[in-house]
Amino acid sequence: MSATPTISLGLSGQSAWVIGASGAIGTAVAELLAEQGVTVWLSGRDKDKLTALQERISQAGGQARIRVLDATLADEVTHAAREIVRQSGKIIILVNSTAVSTFGDFLDLTDEDWEKTFQSKLMVYVRSMRAVLPTMLKAGSGVIINISGRAGKLPSPAHLPGGSMNAAVNLLTKGISDRFKDQGIRANTIAPGPIASARFDALAAQDIEKASAIQSIRPNQGSPKDVAQAVVWLVSPLASHLNGVVLPLDGGATDVAGKVVKDAGIQPE
Ligand SMILES: NC(=O)c1ccc[n+]([C@@H]2O[C@H](COP(=O)([O-])OP(=O)(O)OC[C@H]3O[C@@H](n4cnc5c(N)ncnc54)[C@H](OP(=O)(O)O)[C@@H]3O)[C@@H](O)[C@H]2O)c1
Repeated sequence: MSATPTISLGLSGQSAWVIGASGAIGTAVAELLAEQGVTVWLSGRDKDKLTALQERISQAGGQARIRVLDATLADEVTHAAREIVRQSGKIIILVNSTAVSTFGDFLDLTDEDWEKTFQSKLMVYVRSMRAVLPTMLKAGSGVIINISGRAGKLPSPAHLPGGSMNAAVNLLTKGISDRFKDQGIRANTIAPGPIASARFDALAAQDIEKASAIQSIRPNQGSPKDVAQAVVWLVSPLASHLNGVVLPLDGGATDVAGKVVKDAGIQPE
C-alpha cells in the first residue's frame, strides 16, 4: 500500500467566481480555491481589499483576477459574468458570500433596512446564479455554494433581516438544486454559526445586553478557514453526490433534524 495520499480534489484548472471575496469568509474561500489550482475571480466593491488579496494569492503561486462590482446592480452582475466567461471560457464554480449589517430592534428597522439586506444578499445570489447558469448548463457541469447562516433557522430578534435572508437563501438554493439536478449542476448551502470576523465583532458590539455571552461563545467560534474548507470539499468531485443540502457549520450546535439545539448566544446572521 502506498503511503502517498491518493485523494485529489480534482479542482485544478477550473474557474471560480467568488462574490464577497473582500469579506472574511470570501477571502478565505478564494485563497483555498486558488491553493487547489483554481483560477479565482474576486468580486466585491472594495478594490483595495481585492487587489491585496490578488497579490497574496499570486505570491503564493495561485491565479486570481479581479472584477470589482456592486452586486446590488443587476446589470453589473450580468456584465461581470459575461466578461468572466469571455476571459476564462467558463465558470464552473460560483460562491456567493455577501451581506451587509442591518442590526436592530424590529420596531426600529425601516423599509430601507429591509430592502438593503434583501438587495445585498438574496438578490445578489439570485442574480449571480441567473447570470452563470446558462454557461454551466452549456458546459454540462457547475457547482454553486451559497453562504447563508445559522439565524436562517434560529432567529435572532436583533437581526431579523439577515436571518430572514438566510432562510430564503436556504430555500432558494434547494430549489435551484432540484431544478437543475439532471443537468450536471449541484447547488448547496453552508450555514455558518458564529465565525471569527470583523463582521461578527461589529454585530456583537451592538448587542450590548449579550456582551457576556459573546465571551462565552468565543471558544466555540469557527474561523473563515473552516468555512473555506467546507466550500472546497463541497465543490470538489469528492462531494459529487451531495446536492441541495444546508450544511450547518457550527461546531455541533445542530441536532439530527437540523434544529439548532445549543444556546447560541449571539446570533450573527
Ligand atoms: N461572520 C459570521 O459570523 C457569519 C455567520 C453566519 C453567516 N455569515 C454569512 O457569511 C457571508 C460572509 O460573511 P463575512 O463574515 O465574510 O462578512 P464580511 O466580511 O462583512 O463580508 C461581506 C462581503 O459582502 C460583500 N458585499 C456586500 N455588499 C455588496 C455589494 N453590494 N456588492 C458586492 N459585494 C458586496 C462585501 O464586499 P465589499 O465591502 O467589498 O463590497 C464583503 O466582501 C455573509 O452572507 C454572512 O451573512 C457570516
